[in-house]
Amino acid sequence: MNAANNFLQSSIGKKWVVAASGLGMFLFVIGHLAGNLQFFIGPDAINQYGAMLHAWPELLWVVRLGLLACLVAHMVFSFLLLAQNKRARPQGYAVNPRVVKTLSTRFMAVTGLLLLAFIVFHLLHFTSHSVKPEFTAMVDEKGRHDVYRMMVVGFSDPFVVAFYIIAMTMLCFHLTHGAWSWMQTLGLRTKKLSEPSTRGAHIAAVLLAVGFSSLPASVLLGGVGKGYAAERKNAEQAGKIEAAMDAAKGTQIKPSSGVR
Ligand code: HEM
Repeated sequence: MNAANNFLQSSIGKKWVVAASGLGMFLFVIGHLAGNLQFFIGPDAINQYGAMLHAWPELLWVVRLGLLACLVAHMVFSFLLLAQNKRARPQGYAVNPRVVKTLSTRFMAVTGLLLLAFIVFHLLHFTSHSVKPEFTAMVDEKGRHDVYRMMVVGFSDPFVVAFYIIAMTMLCFHLTHGAWSWMQTLGLRTKKLSEPSTRGAHIAAVLLAVGFSSLPASVLLGGVGKGYAAERKNAEQAGKIEAAMDAAKGTQIKPSSGVR
C-alpha cells in the first residue's frame, strides 16, 4: 500500500498513470472509429453495430466505467505533474533548443480541456440525447435504434459539424504528442525507435482526425444519408397518421341496435 502510494507520489509514477490511462483511451478511440466508419456501409451495418453495443448492458457499463476511470486519472495526474513541474521550475526553461517544447506539447493542457468539452457535448448529443430528445424515438424498420438517421440529422447542423471538426483537430494535436510520449514514459522509446515512433504517432493522429471528421463532413457537404433520413421521416409520419386513424375508429360511438 505504502509502495503504491510512494510510486504515485513520484514524478515517474504519475507519468505512468497518465501514459496507461491515455493508452486505454487511445485504444478506445481506434475501436470507436472502426465502428463508426460502418456508417459508410449503410444504415443496416451501423444500426446492427449500435444494437450489438447495447446487447450486453453489463459489459457496456464495465467499458463505460473503465473509460471514465481513465479520463479522470489522466486529467488529475496530468495536472498534478504540471503543478509539480511548475513548482520545481517556477522560472521556466531558459531558451535552450534541447528543451524548447513543441507546439503540441505546449498545447496539451488546452487541447485536453477542449476535448473534455467535446466529450461532454458528444455524450449529451449521441448517448443521452439530451441535446435532441427526438433521437431516442428514432427506430429503423427492424425496430433497432436508428443510429444512422441520428447521425444524419445530428450532422445536418453546420454549427455541430464545425464543433466536431474543431474537436477532431484538437484530438489530432493532442495525439501527435501523446501517442509517442507514452512509449517514452514506459521506457519503450529507444534511440532506434525514436524517429519511427514520432512518425507513427503523427500518422495515427492524422488518420484518426481525418477518419472521424469524414463522418460529419460527408453528411453536411456530401449529403450522405439525406434520402434515407427523409424516407424514414415520411414512414414515421405515415405510421403516426395510421395509428391516429385506428385510435379514432376505436373511440367512435357505435349506434345501438335498438335506436332507429
Ligand atoms: C465524428 C466523430 C464521432 C462520431 C460520429 C461518433 C459517434 C458516436 C455515436 C453514434 C455514439 C452512440 C453509440 C450508441 O449509443 O449507439 C457515440 C458514443 C460515444 N462516443 Fe463517439 N463519435 C465520434 C467521436 C468520438 C470521440 C473522438 C470520442 C472520444 C474522445 C468519442 C467517445 C464516445 C463515447 C465515450 C461514447 C459513449 C459510448 C457509450 O457508453 O455508449 N466519440 N459516438
